[in-house]
Amino acid sequence: MELSRRTVMAGAAAAGVTATTLGSATAHATGGGKKPVKELFGTLADGTRVHRWSLENGGTRLKVLSYGGVVQSLEIPDRRGRYANVSLGFDNLDDYVAKSPYFGALIGRYGNRIDQGRFTLDGRAYQLSVNDGANTLHGGAQGFDKRVWDVEPFTKGSDVGLYLYYTSVDGEMGYPGTLRTKVTYTLTRGGDWRIDYEATTDKATVVNLTSHVYWNLAGEGSGTVEDHELTIDASRYTPVDSGLIPTGELARVAGTPFDFRRAKTVGEDIRVAHQQVLYGQGFDHNWALDKGVTSRPEHIATLRDPRSGRTLRIATTEPGLQFYSGNFQDGTLVGTGGRVYRQGDALCLETQHFPDSPNQPSFPSTVLRPGRTYRSTTVHAFGS
Ligand code: GLA
Repeated sequence: MELSRRTVMAGAAAAGVTATTLGSATAHATGGGKKPVKELFGTLADGTRVHRWSLENGGTRLKVLSYGGVVQSLEIPDRRGRYANVSLGFDNLDDYVAKSPYFGALIGRYGNRIDQGRFTLDGRAYQLSVNDGANTLHGGAQGFDKRVWDVEPFTKGSDVGLYLYYTSVDGEMGYPGTLRTKVTYTLTRGGDWRIDYEATTDKATVVNLTSHVYWNLAGEGSGTVEDHELTIDASRYTPVDSGLIPTGELARVAGTPFDFRRAKTVGEDIRVAHQQVLYGQGFDHNWALDKGVTSRPEHIATLRDPRSGRTLRIATTEPGLQFYSGNFQDGTLVGTGGRVYRQGDALCLETQHFPDSPNQPSFPSTVLRPGRTYRSTTVHAFGS
């Protein structure tokens, strides 16, 4: 059974146990959000100063960089109240600039791949910056993960958070239209981390924003996540070619390694010699969520580390989930805590529209037109 921190606290109170004896995890269980704190994290080669914001609420501690809107650290307690940073990252700005595989970053303008970096919209052909073989990945060579965002802190009722702003000029990375983007990171009094994305444009364009946190609920640098249990509420996924571009088919997960409709460990089927697993070198696919596009965030996935008891529950308005099992981590990066990251030491659960939608008329549309506002919300709820 899964216990929420609030239940633990209520139980503790009934048993006459004080918050102090349970540790700080439960001490924050009823909110107590502090004003976000800002500090200098580093300076870019052009002299731009990058700041780190620290937020805490409801037992969750979050550190965010103005560079890429990066979640540099996200700490949550285990079932005994012991904290761990469950998100992969670096302890310095230079590594983020030189070699980050999108650790914790905001992704735009288009999360995931676009075939050959090309698409046609309203009869006009566009060529994007190509940065993944012949394709465009995560917005191109200088995506939103490599931009410095304007950050404004807020406290609203019992919530604390940050507004992050970035304006992408017309033609940046080849995309049409000036895109004004606002992302809101909220830590709620219950310790949930909520992301609200908004964007407007002055020309028809395509948008698909997401967040690229690498999760390891046992703590970053602690080893493989193959023992994590994962559930994804999807009966279909989008098979890909060898370049990880969807074929256009919506294939059934039933009877394949892609069936996560009931909790299954990440490692259980990761060595099944299925063509799609070979293409991805593991899981690196988009699940077509059964709920589809929704106006409110709905539950779609649960990740659980049986040893620590930490759980992550994700709800989203998006129709797709890219589950990437950290296949390209090759033991060459040293993480925040000074440990080396190897293949499968973390996984990403990126809520988004389907890859290559601009070239797939049957996929839910990613087109944004002037006068309309792009909106997307994802909520990460933690428990232990
Ligand atoms: C995404 C992609 C993966 C990989 C990672 C970053 O999740 O789907 O193929 O490129 O980003 O390494």
